[in-house]
Amino acid sequence: SKGEYRHYMLKEIYEQPTVIAAALEGRLGEEGVLVESFGPEAAALLQQARQIHIVACGTSYHAGLVARYWLERYAGIPVQVEVASEYRYRDVVVPEETLLVTLSQSGETADTLAALRFAQNKGYLSSLAICNVPGSSLVRESDLCLMTRAGPEIGVASTKAFTTQLVALMLLTLATARAKSRSVDPAILSALRKLPDLCRQVLGLDREIEALSQAFAEKQHALFLGRGAHFPIALEGALKLKEISYIHAEAYPAGELKHGPLALVDSEMPVISIAPNDDLLGKLKSNLQEVRARGGQLFVFADEGVGIDEQEDTRVLHLPHIHEALAPLLYTLPLQLLSYHVAVLKGTDVDQPRNLAKSVTVE
Ligand code: F6R
Repeated sequence: SKGEYRHYMLKEIYEQPTVIAAALEGRLGEEGVLVESFGPEAAALLQQARQIHIVACGTSYHAGLVARYWLERYAGIPVQVEVASEYRYRDVVVPEETLLVTLSQSGETADTLAALRFAQNKGYLSSLAICNVPGSSLVRESDLCLMTRAGPEIGVASTKAFTTQLVALMLLTLATARAKSRSVDPAILSALRKLPDLCRQVLGLDREIEALSQAFAEKQHALFLGRGAHFPIALEGALKLKEISYIHAEAYPAGELKHGPLALVDSEMPVISIAPNDDLLGKLKSNLQEVRARGGQLFVFADEGVGIDEQEDTRVLHLPHIHEALAPLLYTLPLQLLSYHVAVLKGTDVDQPRNLAKSVTVE
């Protein structure tokens, strides 16, 4: 039941500290990720793997895009990510020793399942499903699986399923690094352990995010900007806003702005930007200046210490500092809350948006 919450989506957003802790439970040891969490043969398989193909749809695809940044940076393994409906109809060339990873909340998405079946005679090393529903078709038909443990997700717009997928993908990143004897910053491990608490702190910003949402209720369009692993988070923010509030939203890597979308920017175009404290911050700040110079209205979710200040055309909401590796997880939460509050203001059916189904079991 929804309990004290007005919608399932809100309840599921608020469950994230708890389900993220569940996704980590028993999977971290003193030395790092317990590779056996992925199955008894996982250590040998991850050591053998020379590249990874990730296949998924929708929000799950966005989680895959984040994982590409993580796996290449921290585990040094080449990664390709593709939406299942394209992958399954393409003449995919599979190099030797490639691991296939499918991502799905339901484990029943028709295209993702068909992609897995299509992959079965392509010579993959093995297949791993990262999935939320035990016993689902995807789990049954894959060689290995890691459950995301988000619990039932009722709201059509995926929230806690996404953040627990990201946790699972960070575990995969650390397990792969370990299998390949690559050292990773131990601070990532301690940040993972602190993640549920940091998420709780971010949920404490709900009132402020609700206040921000008023600026969007009358808008027709919105632009989301991020760089690096926050580009997929911008994509996910835009998807949430369009799904439940029916506002047309697009996401761009901030560096692409001047290659076209800047032409759309005027005072009627709110621009939402994600500004954690990482080595792309300087570049992002100059992209934001380009938006200001065209009269755009900026809404920035930023790390405490980044020096982006409120101005007449710039609203800033500060998030607690987090290790840059895990920032994509934390910055997802304010975007979920923002689209939720915009949808409530617009009076749309938050849990059951028009034209959408929770589980897309037909092509
Ligand atoms: C968006 C959303 C969809 C799903 C997509 C894949 O909020 O929920 O985009 O992510 O239909 O579903 P699963 O993860 O069940 O394969």
